[in-house]
Amino acid sequence: MTAAPPPVTAGGTKPMLAVRGVKTFYGNIMALKGVDVDVHRGEIVTLIGSNGAGKSTLMMTIFGQPRAREGQIVYDGRDITKMPTHEIAQLKIAQSPEGRRIFPRMTVFENLQMGASVDGFGHFDEDLLKVFDLFPRLKERINQRGGTLSGGEQQMLAIGRALMSRPRLLMLDEPSLGLAPLIVKQIFDAIRELNRAEGLTVFLVEQNAFHALKLAHRGYVLVNGLVTMTGAGRELLERPEVRAAYLEGGKH
Ligand SMILES: Nc1ncnc2c1ncn2[C@@H]1O[C@H](COP(=O)(O)OP(=O)(O)O)[C@@H](O)[C@H]1O
Ligand SMILES: [Mg+2]
Repeated sequence: MTAAPPPVTAGGTKPMLAVRGVKTFYGNIMALKGVDVDVHRGEIVTLIGSNGAGKSTLMMTIFGQPRAREGQIVYDGRDITKMPTHEIAQLKIAQSPEGRRIFPRMTVFENLQMGASVDGFGHFDEDLLKVFDLFPRLKERINQRGGTLSGGEQQMLAIGRALMSRPRLLMLDEPSLGLAPLIVKQIFDAIRELNRAEGLTVFLVEQNAFHALKLAHRGYVLVNGLVTMTGAGRELLERPEVRAAYLEGGKH
């Protein structure tokens, strides 16, 4: 796999998403301790970190559940720190949460319809074709219930559903979790293709540092609720600290 070329709009311009000094608590426990992250238009940005580092918490905080207790989240120049979650979804931020939470009793088609409801079904047929192009597997299983799909197919469906809402920013929480290497490659290739062909901006949260950093224009390392390193994806991959902490024991 080759890294995507740097986005033309990155650097110098205002970030599409700016997370500033964000602190998030669960009760008295501070899960995010003042996080700064930027995502520019057209970029793939990856956040890597071990289990429990706070990756999912950051993604959920951007969506307003839970709320940041301190700091600021700005999207497209608007402060969304206190905005209700359903209003945030209307801003064309889509999320594929950890654990691929599709609707298990609904068919593939119905799951994709649910995604399109956010966009008011204005481009349903066109978007459905795009999703099927990206993941032909889903087309073959269009009438199958979500819960009976394999893990990889469920992940494709979760991403497909997010895409049906026509996001401008796609946030993915550990899309590779529990999947076989070949399926992981298909999913990451699809993310790269979306970014390359449509300029879709992607914020990807992963424990799978090798693939995720290879794919990313820029990356962040989150340790225990704090960003400890940032840089170009490839550059982070070369750093001995990253290799030692996140790449030991195989590259899948
Ligand atoms: N709903 C919750 N209630 C209490 N603590 C939580 C909750 N969700 C996550 N945490 C804690 O917050 C920290 C960060 O968790 P999380 O964001 O899920 O990490 P990651 O996604 O990086 O694995 C962990 O210590 C976790 O135990
Ligand atoms: Mg998580």
